[in-house]
Amino acid sequence: MSNKQFPTNFIWGTATSSYQIEGAWNEDGKGESIWDRFSHTPGKIQDGTTGDVACDHYHRYRDDVVLMRDLGLQAYRFSIAWPRILPNGRGQVNQKGLDFYGRLTDQLLAANITPFVTLYHWDLPQILEDQGGWPNRDSVDAFVEYADVVSRYLGDRVKHWITFNEPFVSAFLGYQYGNHAPGRKESGLALRAAHHHLVAHGESVPVIRANSAGAEVGITLNMSYQAAGSASAADVARARQADGHVNRWFLDPINGRHYPADMVNMYYQKFDESFDFILDGDFETIAVPTDFMGLNYYSRHVVRDEEATDNLPQTVFESKENRTDIDWEIYPEGLYRILNRLYFDYQIPKIYITENGASYGDGPDENGRVPDERRLSYLKQHFTAAHRAINNGVPLAGYFVWSFMDNFEWAYGYKQRFGITWVDYDTQERILKDSALWYKQVIAENGL
Ligand code: FCB
Repeated sequence: MSNKQFPTNFIWGTATSSYQIEGAWNEDGKGESIWDRFSHTPGKIQDGTTGDVACDHYHRYRDDVVLMRDLGLQAYRFSIAWPRILPNGRGQVNQKGLDFYGRLTDQLLAANITPFVTLYHWDLPQILEDQGGWPNRDSVDAFVEYADVVSRYLGDRVKHWITFNEPFVSAFLGYQYGNHAPGRKESGLALRAAHHHLVAHGESVPVIRANSAGAEVGITLNMSYQAAGSASAADVARARQADGHVNRWFLDPINGRHYPADMVNMYYQKFDESFDFILDGDFETIAVPTDFMGLNYYSRHVVRDEEATDNLPQTVFESKENRTDIDWEIYPEGLYRILNRLYFDYQIPKIYITENGASYGDGPDENGRVPDERRLSYLKQHFTAAHRAINNGVPLAGYFVWSFMDNFEWAYGYKQRFGITWVDYDTQERILKDSALWYKQVIAENGL
């Protein structure tokens, strides 16, 4: 393989999220989140586990930052648990919650690691869900209040902000499919929820900017490559629909294109949706200029007309081989194509890959080493795809590997391990996997 140098100032990092690593679910005044409630409900998490303790990062963050520094990480993307800051969703601020993130931020800065803060990575205060959750328009004001509190407190030290992580997943898995918190499955609710995520994003951007001089602010979308199962017109149309469902419904409005007309029609028929939740001015709000877009990329879906259920495209992972342990197909070409699309079709001026990584269960061998060759290979292939896109002129500015360490993988529980650091959940010992040691080298050389 030829030498692949990345641009000067390219940022190499890793990512995590609050509920997946922190534990301390009811300490220091934290309120309950929808994920606390969901994981405490029998039958919701595949292995019956919860995030009550997770990686105990809330107590071990100092050691975790030392590990990050040893790896030479230049940036670390983490999220804030809203119910730590505002246990009642709004109103009364819990200073101890803010202090935790203040200490973490200071620790990172002292280690020369740039903090990238995600405000919403799915742990809505349960009390707001009790008031209707994201389908209720009041959630917009609540989020803006929360964003204001956090950015006012951290805004002098944090200069990279992500409003939302994956609004598609949050809205559709939470309110349509029901396999994520809050686990509701009511027709059409997801569209309302998604809309309020987007409006809340738009309204909070100027607030964050006002509190954090010179900061970069953006949003992170999950995008997967939607391929037609065959060249038949029906399959091609379904793939286009799947792309509209997962990708364009979010990508278009944040880029000033409103909701895509084909999907408006489809949802109109499917959900008998009147779209009365769209208020005057919303599309201008949603299209607020941002500094970057975050992309989470893992895989592709192969879409077939015959597999559509309930008139919704099925986003299935098809390939039988070439999959990671979570059954997602390894498809680095999809990353390459999506990056090109973001720049050449949407003119997005700056992109960070805010998540990319692979689930493999490899654990310590008899010498205490974790030989996770397959993860290393996955990352190498995707770094190569990103490098090809950069060579085309795509303004990719950084790459965050998911994840810094093994953690609570939502409805899968602890069975799926995405970390480049092994976590022994009984002892909370951390071991850098071979992929982490390799990544250290990539960072040091700024290339492959
Ligand atoms: C993404 C999530 C992240 C993690 C990875 C595997 O959808 O943002 O929290 O679960 O998938």
